[in-house]
Amino acid sequence: MMIQTNQEIQEIQKLILNLKKEKDVTILAHYYQTLEIQEIADFVGDSLELSKIARDHTNTKNIIFAGVLFMAETASILNPVKRVLMPDKQAGCPLASFLNGDTLKIYKDKYPGVPVVVYVNSTAETKAEADVVCTSSNAIKVIQGIQKEYNSKKVLFGPDKNLADHVRLNTNIEIINLPDVGFCYVHNDINKSDAIRAKNDYPNAAVAVHPECKREVRKLADFIGSTKGMYDYVKENPSIVNEFIIGTEIGFVQRLQKDFPNNKIYPMTENFICKDMKRTNLKKILNLLNNLDNDNNIVNVPNSISVKARISLEKMLKYS
Ligand code: 13P
Ligand code: SF4
Repeated sequence: MMIQTNQEIQEIQKLILNLKKEKDVTILAHYYQTLEIQEIADFVGDSLELSKIARDHTNTKNIIFAGVLFMAETASILNPVKRVLMPDKQAGCPLASFLNGDTLKIYKDKYPGVPVVVYVNSTAETKAEADVVCTSSNAIKVIQGIQKEYNSKKVLFGPDKNLADHVRLNTNIEIINLPDVGFCYVHNDINKSDAIRAKNDYPNAAVAVHPECKREVRKLADFIGSTKGMYDYVKENPSIVNEFIIGTEIGFVQRLQKDFPNNKIYPMTENFICKDMKRTNLKKILNLLNNLDNDNNIVNVPNSISVKARISLEKMLKYS
């Protein structure tokens, strides 16, 4: 990858800002995108915030999604009249590949009457087979809600086994993992030793981690929450602690450093990088704005899947 100077970056950013106005585009970016992308986005958020914004707060004909495929698909499902485009459609989420619609059907046959909750980090086809979707922000609320609604002791949940474990520990609900082994390669790679090392290096810092981290890491944290949850944790606690160790993707750590310059924000490890999120860059966004009619960049969810997946997503939004 070619390193760009600050001046080059600013020039590309300027071109993007002008073109997006001219071409009736809203840019949505996840917190795991690079700061230079977050700077040109109309909205930056976690997966729950971005799905609400895609549904309710985009007035343009086109949405460019700087994130990964399931996020852009979610935007398209929730707001089907918009053209949703990705600068690089190869930006997927390997966690989503752990559970496809056919496997989910097998589980549903095996556990008739048990409600099915699917993490938003999943394919559109999988969401279409679920009763409700959740994100890391609202997983506990959604799973408690659906359990009550179905009056069921058990809930089927996938594909992230660590998030399932986090909900289980906080609710005592019997959660059956769909499948046993789903995980995010970025968060699941972080070990207890990484957390201990960071705590030894910064003994006065509070530790906040994403629920996709393993239990051994979560156990050492002062706070466990979604990206937005961690943002609010840092924002609301500056008078108590002003140093934070953050256990999630580096793009988000950089964003916190920028927004809270009086706090010291440390990544739990420098290896916290989602390569898939990082497939998107400013040049690809500029290229897309210059070729908005390129079919290769359009995110299309077939109607038969989209209609069913929308019901599961809308149900989530009602619960949250
Ligand atoms: P958030 O729901 O916190 O945005 O997380 C999305 C994600 O992909 C985490 O790895
Ligand atoms: Fe998927 Fe993990 Fe990347 Fe999030 S960090 S998009 S869960 S691979």
